[in-house]
Order: sequence, then C-alpha cells, then structure tokens
Amino acid sequence: MKLQIVGATALATVLAACSGATGNSSAATQNVQESAAPAVAPVLTTPDAKDVHSYANPAEARVTHVSLDLAADFDAHVMRGTATLDLKTAKDAQQVVLDTRDLTIASVTDAQGHPLPYKVGQSEPNHGAPLTITLDGNKQVKITYQTSPDAPALQWLSPAQTAGKKYPYLFSQGEAILNRSWIPTQDSPGIRQTWDASITVPRPLTAVMSAEMLTPEGEEASGDRHTFRFRMDKPVAPYLIALAVGNLKFEATGPRTGIWTEPEMLDKSVKEFAELPKFVDAAESLYGPYRWGRYDVLVLPPSFPFGGMENPRLTFATPTVIAGDRSLVSLIAHELAHSWSGNLVTNATWNDFWLNEGFTVYFENRIMEKLYGKRRAAMEADLGWSGMMEAVKAAGGPNSPDTQLHLNMTKDRDPDDGMTDIAYEKGAAFLRTIEKTVGRDRFDKYLRGYFDRHAFQPQTTAGFLADIRKNLLTDAEAKEINLDQWAYKPGIPANAVHVKSDAFPAMDMAAKEFAEGGLVASVPDDVTTQERVRFLNQLPRDLSHERLKALDDRFHFSESGNSEIRFAWLMLALGVHYQPAVPSAEAFLTSQGRRKFVAPLFQTLWDQGDWGKAIARRIYAKARPGYHSVTSGTVDKILNWKTAQN
Ligand code: BES
Ligand code: ZN
Repeated sequence: MKLQIVGATALATVLAACSGATGNSSAATQNVQESAAPAVAPVLTTPDAKDVHSYANPAEARVTHVSLDLAADFDAHVMRGTATLDLKTAKDAQQVVLDTRDLTIASVTDAQGHPLPYKVGQSEPNHGAPLTITLDGNKQVKITYQTSPDAPALQWLSPAQTAGKKYPYLFSQGEAILNRSWIPTQDSPGIRQTWDASITVPRPLTAVMSAEMLTPEGEEASGDRHTFRFRMDKPVAPYLIALAVGNLKFEATGPRTGIWTEPEMLDKSVKEFAELPKFVDAAESLYGPYRWGRYDVLVLPPSFPFGGMENPRLTFATPTVIAGDRSLVSLIAHELAHSWSGNLVTNATWNDFWLNEGFTVYFENRIMEKLYGKRRAAMEADLGWSGMMEAVKAAGGPNSPDTQLHLNMTKDRDPDDGMTDIAYEKGAAFLRTIEKTVGRDRFDKYLRGYFDRHAFQPQTTAGFLADIRKNLLTDAEAKEINLDQWAYKPGIPANAVHVKSDAFPAMDMAAKEFAEGGLVASVPDDVTTQERVRFLNQLPRDLSHERLKALDDRFHFSESGNSEIRFAWLMLALGVHYQPAVPSAEAFLTSQGRRKFVAPLFQTLWDQGDWGKAIARRIYAKARPGYHSVTSGTVDKILNWKTAQN
C-alpha cells in the first residue's frame, strides 16, 4: 500500500507547530509516523462519474488532505480559522478549484505564508461559489476564512434548545453538499480526503468529530477556551467530516462502542443503545471487519434534521429514536451499516445515491434479522415496501424518471431531491431480488468481497453492475434479474422481491373491521411498534371523528412518546381535520425538527384548505426558529413561506 506522504507530512507539520502550545504533541506526532494511511484513491474519470454538484477540477489539482484549525464563536455564530489543503496536481496544473458557500475569505497563501492569487466566482443556489486559487507550482494552500452565521451545514443552538438548557450547542451536517459552507475544499463524494482538525471552543464545552480524538480532555488555549484535536487517517468523502460542540458526556457501552450526549440524555440513551456491541459484531459477521476503530453514537438535540447520519466512527442520531423500548433501533443498524456501504464504498456522484442508501437498507435489515429475528426484520422490510410504493406515487407514478435508481440530475437540481424511498427501498428491493436469484450464501460472499475490493473508493452505478457481472452473476442470472432495467428504468420491476410480514394481515384485518364500525375493544392491544404503525397506516384516510376519538381514548396516540406511532397517528388525524389532535401536533412539531416527520405533517395540514393552512402557519411561525435549515428549507417551500413573514 502506498503511503499518503503529502498528507502525513502536512499533518506532522501542523502537529509540530502546535507543540509549543500543547506540550504533549510528541505522542500524537509519533502516531502519525506509525500510521500508514491508505493511499487516497484516484478520482474516477468516466463520464458517469462526473459530479455536476461540485466546481472541483480534480484532473488538474485535487485535495488529498484537509487540515482545519478553527475556533467556534458562539456569540457571532461563526467558525473562524484556517484550512490547509494538500494537493495532488497534474504536471501542468495552473489552479485548484474548491467549493465554498457563504464563506468570507481573508487570505490564501502557500505553505510559507506567501499570498496566492485567488478568485471567488459567482454564487449559485445550493452550490455556493467556486474558489479558484492560482497554484504557482504549490502543492499546499492555506485559506484563512470565516463562516456565515447562516451556514447551512451548521446549526447553532441556544441553551433553550438543548436538554440541559444551560449551554449552547453546535453541530454540523455535511451530506449532501452542505460542508462547503464551513470547509473550503473539493466537496465531491468521489474526491476522498484524509483530514485532521484543531477545534477551539469555550469551556466547559466539549468538541467531538467523526474522527479519532487525540486529546480526550481538551487542551489549554487561553483561559476560557480549550482546544480539541482530531485525526482521520483514512481517506473519506468530504461530506463525512462532522463536528458537534456542547455540554457532552461519554459513557461506554462496550470496549469499542459508546454514547456521547448531554448528561440529561445519557442514561436513557445508554439504555436504548446498550446493544451496540452486538450490532457491530453482527455487521462484521455479515460483511467483514469494521475498519474504523471505534463506533460511537452521538445523540443530538431534537432539532437534528435527520434520523441519523453515518459520520465515520460517530453516528449522529436524533433523540426521537429513543422510544424507551428499543423499538426504533433499526436506525442504528442502518447508520452502522453505512460504515461499509457509503463510507467504505461511496457513491461517486449524487446520481448514485442509491448505492449508499439501498445497500444500507438491505444490510440494515440483515443486521436486524440476525439480532431480533426474521419476524421483526420482515415487518420492517414490509413497511419499507409500502414506503417505496408511496414514493412511486409521490414521484408521479411508475413512469417518472424520479423512480429510477440511477438519477440523471442536472446541476440545478438539489441532490436532496434524490433522498426518497426510491433510493432506499427500491435499492434494497433490487439487492433482495439478486439475493433470491443466486441464494443468500453466494450473495453474502459476493458482498463481502465487493466491500473489500472497493474499500475507500468511490463507486458508480455502472461500476457496481460491471463488478457484479464479473464476480457473481452468470449471463443467464444477469438476464433473469434484468440489471439494467433495475438500475436505469423507472418503476418497480415485476420480479421485485417483496418481503411480506406474516404479522401484518392481522393488522390489515383489524384496521378494516374497525373502520367499518367494529368495536375498539377488538383492536389488538399488545403489539409491536411496527404492527401498530402498519395498523394506523392501513386505516382509511376518511375515518369519522367519532372513530378517531374512540381510538385515541383507548390508545392515547396523541400522547405517544414513540415518534413513529405519534407521526402515523397525526398523519391520519390531521388529514380529516380532527381538531382534538391539533395540540398534539403542535407539541410534536415544536419539540423536534426531524424533517421526515415535520415536512409530511405540514404538507398534510397545508392540503386541508383554510382550516389546515391557518394551523400550519400558526405552528410554523412558532416552530421555524428552532428548525435546522434542512428542515425549514423544505417546509418553507410547502408553505410558500417568505422569510420576511418572520
Ligand atoms: N445518510 C442518510 C442521511 C442523509 C441522506 C442526509 C441524504 C443528507 C442527505 C442517513 O443514513 C439516513 O438514511 N437516515 C435516515 C434514517 C434511516 C434509518 C433510513 C433518516 O434520517 O431518516
Ligand atoms: Zn442512510
């Protein structure tokens, strides 16, 4: 394996430069010398690997290593400092082009501090602006900059938005193309980079990142601030660089797993995720060694806009999965599975997003089957199938190009648009269909080899199809599956494997009987979360208020602390103007900001004419300041919200 000399040298330089301030950098420097970082994989050059969502010019000059030295200013809501980039350049390279968004650049220099000419180009929606630096033969550039208070990758929370209510909080969210708003680099998933960071924060806050922490307690900077140092010596896609700062505590759940969160959330979180070690063991037994060292989970404040984010070594998770009974832990299986599908083998462009998410949903379900059995796994897969069917409808039907696995996004299309159950569930159905054709043993062996062959590399849809043709399928099998139809054509192929839960027919029956006037007492009581969700989703969308009242009186869905049940109930109730559910909706929408829940609820209200529109506007005015830009961006569009309205 080739040493990534440039990156390692730069890192050693940075650490050496810090040694005066810290006094203990020799251990860290030693680590650098000992660690042989995997060579940074070449950027793919086939036309299908061209990333229209980045300004980068990797064929001329590409970033191989990012070194951040940033301080968090919680008063101004900005990050300030430097990013030093190591480059690999072509012989005649003139310039490097980076992605930036709303950054204020103070200077660009070479390694010795000599200014380099640079230009910030025209800013475009979602993409931000290219930063073009004239290289003058340099292989390292240093950018001094600060972020905008509105940087979409960063959410600055007031103490009131945290569990402890005493300290502010900051977290980043990089995927898909947000990291350019706090890190000036080539923000393209096919351009892998090693990285390190020094993050200075006010005491007593703690910084954590998706990397190895080199200084667990933080080091002195000046009296009221301290600095945390991190290192990722494996090349990762830049959307996977992540940071959180807050009053954070850690508790181990095993030798290589643990939970980071605010102290007020720690016990609950540790209880919910006590089985982390088993998750990692199960994943490894399926597809080979976990290659990232530790696997920890950070439980964020409720405004985190996603269920989870697979930041390497440190999954970011919403507190809304803490149901108290571990019923929603498949989310952890999902984010962990990304340690292979997504983080090891990474979608080369956002058109190949299904390679990240479809593989991961498949893998997640295999972990769930191993740990919780076939019954639970089948229920979750079957709910996924329904989600896929809904996504086909939402896309405008089975002929819509948005129902293709491989997308053909133009640059004006936000990669976020691809985050639908097509990528997730049609992707998983594709893999289940292959599994059924070749048998589980053969498929598992193949996948294990696939992750090894492509570890730390980008992958395109065509690359995957070529690999599976070469290493797994006979011509007859490839034909039977119809790989190209699956990957490139809209709709759900007729051979799609639909995993059916044998627990669901009883729920469907119960829903039907209850809707037709049956007694609420005959609705099953002691069922799993997944069955309950199925039951709620099967109820007709025009139930009478009397029927809804009977249900809520009996099951108290309006007060459910299980976010998935609460959401399924509110979707049903708001869809028929059931006023008694409005306070519950208001409480739910103002106490968490997970887009998957928030956006459909506002959409449902919005679709209800004057009644719902008024409620939506009232609740949104109250909730919006607490939402992350990812969530408010989506809801603004639904409600046609003009920021001036605030
Ligand atoms: N990687 C995604 C989150 C993501 C995708 C963020 C695209 C930004 C752009 C993560 O792994 C994910 O899929 N999260 C899901 C939960 C999962 C259990 C399906 C979510 O947040 O709902
Ligand atoms: Zn995912």
